[in-house]
Amino acid sequence: MPAAAMAPPSDPHIPVLLGPLLKAVAPVRGLWCDGTFGAGGYALGLLAAGADRVIGIDRDPLAHRMAAPLLAAHEGRLQLKHGTFSNLDTLAGEPLDGVVLDLGVSSMQLDQAERGFSFQKDGPLDMRMSQDGPSAADLVNTADEAEIADILYHYGEERASRRIARAILEARAQEPISTTLRLAEIIARQLPRPKPGQSHPATRSFQAIRIAVNAEFSELAAGLAAAERALKPGGKLAVVSFHSLEDRIVKRFFLAASGQEANANRYAPATETTEPRFTMATRKAIAADATELAQNPRSRSAKLRIGIRTDAPASAIPPADLGLPTFSRKGRR
Ligand SMILES: C[S@@+](CC[C@H](N)C(=O)[O-])C[C@H]1O[C@@H](n2cnc3c(N)ncnc32)[C@H](O)[C@@H]1O
Repeated sequence: MPAAAMAPPSDPHIPVLLGPLLKAVAPVRGLWCDGTFGAGGYALGLLAAGADRVIGIDRDPLAHRMAAPLLAAHEGRLQLKHGTFSNLDTLAGEPLDGVVLDLGVSSMQLDQAERGFSFQKDGPLDMRMSQDGPSAADLVNTADEAEIADILYHYGEERASRRIARAILEARAQEPISTTLRLAEIIARQLPRPKPGQSHPATRSFQAIRIAVNAEFSELAAGLAAAERALKPGGKLAVVSFHSLEDRIVKRFFLAASGQEANANRYAPATETTEPRFTMATRKAIAADATELAQNPRSRSAKLRIGIRTDAPASAIPPADLGLPTFSRKGRR
């Protein structure tokens, strides 16, 4: 069944770190962009906290189908645009008082087996947030062994990346890998059986393949730069990340853009020091408190970082300074 025709998920996405975010960016006024609209939890939170208007963006047609009642209920104050947040300045089309990015996939996406994100539910090996372009099946059935190993290692920190890549090539020579559970089994067979409390052995590899399929790291780097261009002086950029690789990009972006550290790599030549484009709202990342942790296990790994735009002109940060892995993707994104 095409994903766009699936029944809407019954279980809504519970927003992570929304309370701490709204508190840290208060007072909320003017025009905000929610670059990861999902089920609209952040957008609605911003409107309730005092934003005059919110422009939402999501690349997933499912988010747009589900948003109809919200858009009708907040007509004139809430808009939703289809596209990626790497273009948020162009999509918004006007200077912004704030930008929020709540990275990764939503529970609506994860929970629908048909979307192919989950190694716990059998479904087509898809993983495309935007429901178009090359899928995870295209990637695992066509990429060469070295590229698959690089993806697993750099995007999933999977130490058994070479062994798993070899097993994927052997398995696909028998029959193309087209389902989530088959891929999960191929991966699990290469790794020790998890002890009680340990995560599923395919967790890291599935994360890596999802990141590759959706070009999540280049999207993030471009999205941070787009937010920098779009924000008014005094405007706020709040980013919630869900794993250490994502958080490293956000942290290095803010370090470089706030002039605290021109270059995070002490062996690399120092980049040109420019006037700070952001000041940090808090020195450290904000994490979920015990109450939120108890209510929403997804908040366990979440980190929130917030920067406040200065009036210095926007500038670009080289991707290597953000810690983006730089292996060859054979013409892919
Ligand atoms: C974690 S969910 C956001 C949930 C949302 N804050 C809420 O409260 O419902 C992430 C959403 O962002 C979307 N998304 C992820 N990366 C994107 C990108 N680069 N551009 C646009 N949308 C993206 C996904 O499709 C997903 O719907």
